[in-house]
Amino acid sequence: MEEIEILYSEETIAKRVDELAKTLYEKYHNEEVVFICTLKGAVFFACDLLKKYKGDARMEFLRVSSYKGTESTGKIELNLSISKDNIKDKHVVIIEDIVDTGNTLLFLNNYVKEMEPKTLEICTLLDKKIKRMVDIDPTYAGFVVDDLFVIGYGLDYDQKYRNLPYIGVLKKTKKISI
Ligand code: IMP
Ligand code: MG
Repeated sequence: MEEIEILYSEETIAKRVDELAKTLYEKYHNEEVVFICTLKGAVFFACDLLKKYKGDARMEFLRVSSYKGTESTGKIELNLSISKDNIKDKHVVIIEDIVDTGNTLLFLNNYVKEMEPKTLEICTLLDKKIKRMVDIDPTYAGFVVDDLFVIGYGLDYDQKYRNLPYIGVLKKTKKISI
């Protein structure tokens, strides 16, 4: 395995996830919320976040793909969809792993909006703000990261490293521009 530099430890992530769960609960308290976990990257984050969320939650899953290695293919494909009945007139929060150019999030946001949710917010673990190419921002972000290719805690490099309990940077891919 390549050398990995730890960016956010397991403890640091857990603490931030706890804070985000509290922030979301303060917003929605007793109202039911549909949380949409975007596969595969956000699965660790979504599970941990929802275990800490004290309100009434439902869980849905969406799957889009847009990346090969550290290069964006520039094309977003929906591989798993949701029925409109599960979204219409409900409070919805999209859970993302990382927002980079924003293209994926814009696509997801438009897809969900068409199903007429009552409200729609976005909660991402990581925000690579500096890379944004389109006009969309997450409502909540765990950490703002620099222009580095990060792995672990759900995030992959060619489908590898998702199971790392921390978020790190592959030393040999450090400072790669994607
Ligand atoms: P965007 O459409 O450019 O915002 O890219 C979003 C998607 O690209 C994320 O959901 C990830 O799947 C992937 N991605 C972007 N940056 C990274 C990274 O640093 N590590 C791993 N995946 C990334
Ligand atoms: Mg993602």
